[in-house]
Amino acid sequence: MRKLLATAAVALASLSGQAFAEGSDVKLLPVSFSFEGPFGTYDYHAVQRGFQVYKEVCAACHGLSLVAYRNLQQIGLSEAAVKAIAADVQIRDLNDVGEMADRPGRPADRFRSPFPNELAARAANNGAYPPDLSLMIKARPNGAHYVYSLLQGYEDFAKLTADQKKAMGLAADFKMQPNMQFNKFFPGHQIAMPKPLNEGQVTYNEEAQKEGIKNDLPQLAKDVVHFLAWASEPKMEERKKTGVKAVLFLVILAGLFYAVKRKVWADVH
Ligand code: HEC
Repeated sequence: MRKLLATAAVALASLSGQAFAEGSDVKLLPVSFSFEGPFGTYDYHAVQRGFQVYKEVCAACHGLSLVAYRNLQQIGLSEAAVKAIAADVQIRDLNDVGEMADRPGRPADRFRSPFPNELAARAANNGAYPPDLSLMIKARPNGAHYVYSLLQGYEDFAKLTADQKKAMGLAADFKMQPNMQFNKFFPGHQIAMPKPLNEGQVTYNEEAQKEGIKNDLPQLAKDVVHFLAWASEPKMEERKKTGVKAVLFLVILAGLFYAVKRKVWADVH
């Protein structure tokens, strides 16, 4: 019975977002995104920069299998640019005589995954599986803030002081496993992903540079999260607009009902 209760408690804990922060006082890094709040919208310049970061860095290990190349037109890339991006990628598909063969990508293809299957992905990553990022921002509690922090949460474990370890709620006998990296924000603090992003790793185009956009780590992390947020919900803006319309409609309807009620009951004292 006790075992059953314990299992149920663990299952419940894993369902709630709280589990992520449990046992540590580590707060996510402060940041705000334009897409937050009931009226939030995407900043498509940021989404485009984030796509560049994903393409040049994350795509080496992570798929984005729910997004098609043609969807990139929604973030402001031209049809020709999208065609060129797709054509740069080799997609494995049936050829005219029914054999599997590589062909250049087309806008209608979904993003190509870096590994042919999960086993190959694990084999290339010391047994760990780099998850598909299509829905990552939705899959993690407070996803945008979490991934933004995660990308900047790497520390050299050997250099942490006892006080720092205590503040993060690390057990006294906490030891790093082989091939794992210390990350402040990852549940359990040991992650199999090597630090993927570093200052200056991606060079933005002149337009971005003229706008004064730097390519330091916080900016790169923020942009790639912006892109992944768009990928996880490309129709967010329509959803919010519909919500606002629905609320307006209900407010007007409530006013009408009130007026009708007053009229109907006017003679009753
Ligand atoms: C060298 C391969 C590699 C690269 C490059 C890489 N990752 Fe990862 N990533 C991994 C692996 C492996 C895991 C699984 C880690 C684990 O479960 O311990 C992972 C996990 C993740 C997770 C899930 C964390 C969680 O809470 O489960 C996110 C989010 C993520 N990566 C984002 C990114 C982003 C964004 C980039 C690009 C800036 C990136 N990764 C680049 C290998 C990589």
